[in-house]
Parts: sequence; structure tokens; C-alpha cells
Amino acid sequence: MNSLDHENRFNNRERTVLKVVVVGAGTMGAGIAYSAAAAGHDIQLVEQNQRFLDQGIARIEDYLTKGVTRGTITKDQANLIRGRVHGTIDYSKACADAELAVEAVYEDEKVKSQVFGALDKSCPKAAILASNTSSISISKLAHGTTRPEKVVGLHFFNPVPSMKLVEVIRGQKTSPETLKRAEDFAQTMGKTIVHSADRTGFIVNRSLMLFINESARLLDENVATPADIDKAFVLGANHPMGPLQLADFIGLDIVVDVLKVLEKEYGERFTPSPTLQRLVSEKKLGRKTKRGFYDY
Ligand SMILES: NC(=O)c1ccc[n+]([C@@H]2O[C@H](COP(=O)([O-])OP(=O)(O)OC[C@H]3O[C@@H](n4cnc5c(N)ncnc54)[C@H](O)[C@@H]3O)[C@@H](O)[C@H]2O)c1
Repeated sequence: MNSLDHENRFNNRERTVLKVVVVGAGTMGAGIAYSAAAAGHDIQLVEQNQRFLDQGIARIEDYLTKGVTRGTITKDQANLIRGRVHGTIDYSKACADAELAVEAVYEDEKVKSQVFGALDKSCPKAAILASNTSSISISKLAHGTTRPEKVVGLHFFNPVPSMKLVEVIRGQKTSPETLKRAEDFAQTMGKTIVHSADRTGFIVNRSLMLFINESARLLDENVATPADIDKAFVLGANHPMGPLQLADFIGLDIVVDVLKVLEKEYGERFTPSPTLQRLVSEKKLGRKTKRGFYDY
């Protein structure tokens, strides 16, 4: 995010300030809470216990420190953003006057369904309930609530503050009004939206994971080295980084987990390649472990 984006957001007096609940303060929840607060929204950040909440707040502090160090926000702006994020482990308190809730808990249908149940019970009837799920059906999550027309998918990308895209997912019963309000919210955060049907993997993961997996298969078959595979896509297809570099950045454990979900839905074309499986079993997970397709 550049400083101009930030200036525009801070100076936009027309902007609607929403009362937003973010559930889960992990990698994605902290990023969503930070970016929504930077856009001016009032945030209630909910975690399952105080320890995870403290870790989430520390992630947000990290974004603030980096923002100030890099000059994308001033110290005053950092203080404003900090003041808009309220952490709690109490759902009913967090949801009391919520207009929109974004769920970003573990990618586990049972956990997400429980969270949706709690949000449905605690949020005002008019509130929109959004999920950041990467693979779980929005229609299924909506089905367990009393307001399926107000449930929608908002799939952000990591790291949320710098990734411009949000995939907006319409469930079977999502109303046009819900869709519009969810899109408006994402746009206040400076995001560009694309629409996807409620099919596992949506647009980006379904296509990208197949691409990464097939690139790893080139290694399985000794067709080329990692450096040449990546160079080929940077120079031959104008990609900003090659597929194996990108996989190291995402985390090879995450790549394998997503491939397994896609494999279950669409079949063996998504079966993780032997090289990917081996690297994960050796705990070479990419940049975060300093070893993956490359050493860092
Ligand atoms: N990490 C990514 O790159 C990425 C990208 C897009 C979407 N997603 C999706 O976002 C969601 C979150 O992923 P993540 O990487 O941030 O996971 P994470 O493990 O970093 O964070 C999940 C957080 O949810 C909290 N949580 C679990 N149950 C809870 C409950 N009942 N109430 C409140 N908080 C609870 C956990 O304590 C944890 O802090 C998943 O659905 C994932 O598929 C992840």
C-alpha cells in the first residue's frame, strides 16, 4: 500500500464508517482488522482466548511499526488505527452493535459453523456475516444461520494490507443487497473485487495450485532446475515471480493442504507432487523455515 492510498483513505470524509467484528486474530484476521481500521472502520477483534488475542494484537502492532518505518503511515495515523481496534474474547459484547462480521478462524467446517452460530445469535439481525474461507461452502455456512441471505464470502489474500484482491463469493441465498454491502466494504479498504461462484478454490487457488503443482512435477521428472522453471515464467510469461518462488512464499505446507482439499473435490489432477510432499515431510516449508524449493 503506498502513502497516497493511505492519504486518500484518511481524507475521504464521504467514507461510511462501519462497526466491524473480525473473528480470529491469526495471519488473516489480524491483517483484515488492521486494513479495515486503516480504512476508518471501528473494529471488534474476537479470539478464543486471551493468549491468541494478545498474539493477534502483536501482529497488528507489527503492521503499524512497519507502516511507520516504511513511511506509508505517520505516527499519528498509527495511533488512530490502533485506537480503532478493540480486542475481546466476549462474542456478545463484540457483536452488540455490529453491522458486519468477518470470520477468519481455522479452515475447519465444524469450527466455522460454531462461529457462525455464535455470530448469528449475537449480531443484530441486519448485520452481514462474511467468511474468509478458502474452501468451505458459503451456502453450507449460511444454512446453519437464521439469515442465509446475509451470508457472503470475502476471500482476502495474504498479506492482507498489501494484496489488492478480494474474491467475493455469492452463496445460494446471498441477497444482491448483501453482496453490494460486502463489496462496498472491501472497496473502502482499497481492494479490487472479483466475483466467484461458491465452488471450492474459487478462482485463484483452483488455478494457481494446479500451476504450482505442475511446476513441481517438472522437478519430479527432472525436466528443469527450480531456477530455470522460475526464470522461464518470469521471462517467458511476464510473471513477477516464478511458481516455485511463489510456493516458497505462500508456505509449502499450505500449498499441500489446499491441494488436498482440491483433490478431494475435483480428483487426482490436484494430488500433491512427490517433491512437494517430500519437502513438507522434511519440514522444508519455504521462506518461513528458510528452506523450501530454495535455501534462504
Ligand atoms: N493464510 C493464508 O494465506 C490465507 C489466505 C486466504 C484465506 N485464508 C483463510 O483464512 C482463515 C484463517 O486463516 P489464517 O491463516 O489466518 O489462520 P491462523 O491459524 O493464522 O488463524 C486462525 C485464528 O483463529 C482463531 N480461532 C480459532 N477458533 C476460534 C473461535 N472459535 N473464536 C475466535 N477465534 C478462533 C485461532 O485462535 C487463530 O488465532 C482460514 O479460513 C483460511 O483458509 C488464509
